[in-house]
Amino acid sequence: MLSEKKLNEILSELTLDEKLSMIHGAEFFKTAGVERLNIPPLVFSDGPMGVRLDFYPDSWDKVNLSDDYVTYLPCNSALAASFSRECAYETGNVLGEETRGRGKDVILGPGVNIKRSPRCGRNFEYFSEDPYLTKELAVEYIKGVQQWDVAACVKHFLANNQETDRLNVDTIVDEDVLKEIYMPAFRDAVKRGGVLSLMGSYNRINGEFGSQHTHYLNDVLRNEWGFDGLVVSDWGAIHDSENAAKSGLDVEMSVTPDFDEYYLANPLKKLVEEGKISEELIDEKVRHCLLLMNRLNMLDGERKSGTYNTEEHRSAALRVAEESVVLLKNDKGILPLDRKIKKLLVIGENADRLHALGGGSAEIKALYEISPLMGIKKLLGGNVSVKYAKGYSGDIFRGNDEEKWQERSLDLDFVRVESDEVADKKMAELRKTLREEALALAAEYENVIFIGGLDHVPGHDSEGDDRPDMKLPYEQDILIKELLKIRPDMTVVLIGGSCVEMSEWVDDVHALVWGWYGGIEGGTAIAEVLFGDVNPSGRLPETFYHDLSECSAHAIGEYGTVDRVEYKDGIYVGYRYVDKYGVTPQFPFGYGLSYTTFECEGATVDYDSSTVTVSVTNTGRRAGKVSVLVYMKGEGDEPVKTLAGFDKIYLEPGEKRLVRVDITDGIVGGRKYFAVV
Ligand code: BGC
Repeated sequence: MLSEKKLNEILSELTLDEKLSMIHGAEFFKTAGVERLNIPPLVFSDGPMGVRLDFYPDSWDKVNLSDDYVTYLPCNSALAASFSRECAYETGNVLGEETRGRGKDVILGPGVNIKRSPRCGRNFEYFSEDPYLTKELAVEYIKGVQQWDVAACVKHFLANNQETDRLNVDTIVDEDVLKEIYMPAFRDAVKRGGVLSLMGSYNRINGEFGSQHTHYLNDVLRNEWGFDGLVVSDWGAIHDSENAAKSGLDVEMSVTPDFDEYYLANPLKKLVEEGKISEELIDEKVRHCLLLMNRLNMLDGERKSGTYNTEEHRSAALRVAEESVVLLKNDKGILPLDRKIKKLLVIGENADRLHALGGGSAEIKALYEISPLMGIKKLLGGNVSVKYAKGYSGDIFRGNDEEKWQERSLDLDFVRVESDEVADKKMAELRKTLREEALALAAEYENVIFIGGLDHVPGHDSEGDDRPDMKLPYEQDILIKELLKIRPDMTVVLIGGSCVEMSEWVDDVHALVWGWYGGIEGGTAIAEVLFGDVNPSGRLPETFYHDLSECSAHAIGEYGTVDRVEYKDGIYVGYRYVDKYGVTPQFPFGYGLSYTTFECEGATVDYDSSTVTVSVTNTGRRAGKVSVLVYMKGEGDEPVKTLAGFDKIYLEPGEKRLVRVDITDGIVGGRKYFAVV
């Protein structure tokens, strides 16, 4: 590592042009280096579910290499459902080693925005509705990433909770609400996680764009939290040179190839030459770039080399996926299923659908992806006849230029190749046929599993659009209802990044499992849970509402509006709202069943050390993991309860353990009343 003195010397030798070249994109994912002084370029990559494939330097065409396949990791919502700091650290560790292995410097994740509404298209990239769970996992994730001489880039700062009008919408939100709900994960990423870089958001927050916000980037992030890492804009989120120069932003990235005309390129040079912007502001940005490079051993010393696609990485991805699956219903002990059956029917497009290469910038070119159907087939082997029926079908592609969605995300004139009416009619006919085929088969098989849910099609779990509602797409409700009439013993597995309406059939289903986008081995994990090789231990990291009317953003706040969205729901987000207003959701935050049973007793609180001790016993007949959640009780105007601590443990049948949960970082505003679940 170079000394501070040496860094200052380098800085003093740089010309204005060289400095400017370091603070804006010279390619879509790279800044320019300064060869003369041995300063390398800075190379970015998305994130967060793996290291993204390579693009050409100045077009959004994929290079189509054979060497940019990677380990596809479970999405952050899955990770959150594991309620496990170890899983978060392991995920970060794999991501960091692969980022370095692929020769990148900054990985654009984790996304730590709060899941304010199930409609948000990027929910799958985010952890939870709860700030404490989000920050605890983000901190471990970042530590895992950064041990590999690469920087995590926590995003999108700040209050970026909807995709509707994402490039422009002004989020109107109280400072106290930001502090309690939307900022903690960023603050702890900085203060406890030591995150080395942060991405500003597209949206405005109380009037100014996130990526060039003088208050939140300068006063809060830099001055209050003491962040001296790198601040990068979201891609195309800068709107004027002067504000950007004066804000705590360091590097401007964008989506068009006119790199020299970026706001922090020639236009900024002109302002400096005219004496309107002091060169010292630019020095400060360059200093942050050099500091980051120095911290990553890019300027001197030995840098870790990393690697990718290792057996260890795949095993880690599987472990996390296994811990993320949530068992929501098992009324008649239908699960786990008997693997000694002869004939199994699997229905539903998500059984057979691969999700990695979708969703927007979080797309991953996975080395492979085990679908649930393959997971089931490889677990059961050749002696069981597994019949697959699609049952329903996703949409046909209605636009053009699919590959270039990122460029298109800034271009509202999205060309349609076919009229909606024609497309809708074709789809309705196709779905009816598929439904009839599946229904005709359902009675013939010993067991039936339906696997459906969401996908990464725009308008579902995908960047750039929000979901129009909370409903299951593609007429799945009709299919599930009809199937359950014939097969009330059918297991329903849903995959998605956030909850869906289930009211039409949920009372009739006895076995219900929630999987997320589970990564490279996601289908293996689902199969293992269904057939009992893994005892499910995931818990919901967000409230599963009956419908949107139970979600604060829609009930008392605002959501999905254009130009301006006011967070009238304040701190009452997720379970904070549901508890306060006496709503009974479909499944509450923290919910998740197991194939065994656990009992918590004798909780004691040690106020001096901020720990809660509780005895947990596995009272069932299977070994399993369980997360112990500790909540703080509020008073008066405060939320009824807030999550203050958690720990995950493994217990053999009959085993009893004393669990000590540290709640130091869960204490907000001096509240000190505890409850244990
Ligand atoms: C997204 C970011 C992403 C960036 C680079 C933007 O559209 O909002 O999350 O990291 O593109 O691909």
